[in-house]
Formats: sequence, C-alpha cells, structure tokens
Amino acid sequence: MDLYNVYPLFDINIVKGEGCRVWDDKGTEYLDLYGGHAVISIGHAHPHYVESIASQVQKLGFYSNSVINTLQTAVAEKLGRLSGYEDYSAFFVNSGAEANENALKLASFTNGRTRVISFKKSFHGRTSLAVEVTDNAKIIAPINSNNHTTYLPLNDIEAVRAELAKGDVAAVIIEGIQGIGGIVVPQPEFLQQLQEECTATGTILVLDEIQSGYGRSGKFFAHQWAGIRPDLITVAKGIANGFPMGALLISPKFTPIFGQLGTTFGGNHLACAAAQAVLDVIEDENLLDNVNKVGEYLMTELKKIPAIKEVRGKGLMIGIEFEEPIKEIRTKLLFEEHVFTGVSGTNVIRLLPPLSLSMEQAQEFIARLHKVIG
Ligand SMILES: Cc1ncc(COP(=O)(O)O)c(C=O)c1O
Repeated sequence: MDLYNVYPLFDINIVKGEGCRVWDDKGTEYLDLYGGHAVISIGHAHPHYVESIASQVQKLGFYSNSVINTLQTAVAEKLGRLSGYEDYSAFFVNSGAEANENALKLASFTNGRTRVISFKKSFHGRTSLAVEVTDNAKIIAPINSNNHTTYLPLNDIEAVRAELAKGDVAAVIIEGIQGIGGIVVPQPEFLQQLQEECTATGTILVLDEIQSGYGRSGKFFAHQWAGIRPDLITVAKGIANGFPMGALLISPKFTPIFGQLGTTFGGNHLACAAAQAVLDVIEDENLLDNVNKVGEYLMTELKKIPAIKEVRGKGLMIGIEFEEPIKEIRTKLLFEEHVFTGVSGTNVIRLLPPLSLSMEQAQEFIARLHKVIG
C-alpha cells in the first residue's frame, strides 16, 4: 500500500531528537526552529517526559472515559494553576481541530444559534466546522461549506459590531496570534472590545490558542497579553509535546450536561502522562521566562537585518517577512545550514522552536541565517 500523497515532503528522514536538535538517518544534526510545527514545547525526548510515558504504559495505557481517571484531574488542576484559569473546566480531546469542533458545538448548544464570525487568513483545522471557519476556500470541501461562517477583517471592531447586532451569531472564533496567516498579533484593544461585544450580545468568544498557547507567546496564553478572559479556550500542539492531544477550557458560566460532549480516546492515560510531564517541565524549568528572554533576543537581532521587511510575533512565535519569496532561503537554511524553520504563504518564515531554545542556540540560528542571506 502506498501513502496517500497529500504532503509535499523534504527528502529527510528524522530518526532522533534531543532538546532543540534532531538527527536524520545519515547522522546529520539539525537545529530545530520549527518544533515539528509548534508541537514540541519542552524539547525532544525530555528525560522527565520519556520517564512519565514509559512508566504509565507499563501500568495502564488506556481505559475508557466511563471510569474515574485521576490523571485527567491532575492535568486539569495543574493546567488551571499554571494558566491562571483555575475556575475553568477541562474537556480533553485528541487534536486541535477536535477542540475547535467541540468549542463551536458547545457555543451553539448554549445559545441555540448557528452562525460563526471568523477572521480573514484564520486557520482552525481541517474537520467539519473547524475547516468551515477557516479562511481558505481551497481546503473547504462542498460538504463542509454550509454558510455558517462570516469572515471579517482582523482588528475591525465596527465590522464585528454590525454582525453581532443581528443577534444570530453563536460564536466568534479567533487565534491568540494568527499562525498560518503569517504570525499576526491581534491588537489588544480589539480583543478587549471583542470580549465586551460578545458578552453584550450573548455570543460565545472562542480563543484558539492551539498554536499560540502553552507558553509560546511568553504568557501561558497569547490573549493574556490583552488581559481578556474568553468563554472558551482551545489548546493542542504543545500540550503533550507530540503525543496527540487537545483540550477545551470552559468558563464556569457553562453548565455541563451528561452526554453533550464525548470522546473515546480523549484524555486517555498515556496522553495525560505526556501532558502532565509537559506542565511539570514548563513550571520546573521556568520555560516562560526563557521564552521571553530568547524571544526578545531573536526579535532584536532579526530587526537589525536589512534584507528583512518585517519581524512580527511574541515570544517564540516569530514571523520573518521578506520582500521576495523565501523558498530559496528556507531551502538553504535546511540543506546547507541544517536548520528547520516553518513557512507561511510565500514570503514569511515562521519560527516555532521548542520553548527551551537556549540563547546559544538562538545565536547559532542568527549566525546561520546571516550565512544564507549574506
Ligand atoms: C491555530 C490553529 N488551530 C487549529 C489547528 C488544527 O490543529 P490540528 O492539526 O491538531 O487539528 C492548527 C494547526 O495547525 C492551528 O495552527
């Protein structure tokens, strides 16, 4: 059987990782400024993470959500404490798209409405509603195109006001920082006004923190830079450092109803062992402080490079926009300088390294980038 050929692949077979470095099957070492697409939060093969998963699988890998799972309770407790959302509840799922599906479902169950406001250039996943609220017509299949979504320009509060005034909007969904859209940080005043408008009109505010959350921006959630508290927060990617997991954080204003949401694999024992280890390391190694320090250094150094048009982002979620397409720069970074980076559109390089990236590794990246762009 062949693989269904939907991914354009680099001809590289990564077989080993440690911290912010990975190795291919020929022994070539790479600096990882991509984190497997913002997934590696605490670094590859962190010893505490390895130990936590290994010891859990020796005891119990899985049992269903029909019995008590104290690992879920422990992860929820620590996630609440570290994020400042102790009064919220957690519903664990398996991916980012699934977290957004459940958020939009819960919003619609709660206020009985069916329309969603999303923003231009947004990305929220590839399943049913998650893809329908994503602003990319190429990935919305006809079966997912059900006229639920109105896409508005980011930061345009008047446009939002006009739509919410119609009284039929179930939810507004917005990324803490737009990732695939090119690392675009929403204006704090816009987020504050958005929260006010949602509250005033009975609309549920969903903050998609799947890429920008879990410490990546230098605060636990990127929206915390604007001082808002959304009704629902979705997380995935960094939550379990590569073990497939997602979660929906739910404000106390929602009342749970038996059977309304459910999942077979969500929050399983192995996933929780991985998620617990991630939270332990974020706390014990002060990773948020590291993100702020190293992110600040990278931003400052990148802004000094004349060939770069604009540097955007926060913490270790950085977009480097060039005047011209970045394909050649990115290819040289990978094959000549052995640095993994991400991309957005044609002109933006995305940096999404593990949150444990050291100053020395950041300096190494800047030096290698200079070698490529001169
Ligand atoms: C902001 C955002 N939301 C949702 C998703 C979908 O997550 P997943 O691929 O885990 O379904 C992604 C993935 O890139 C994302 O960046």
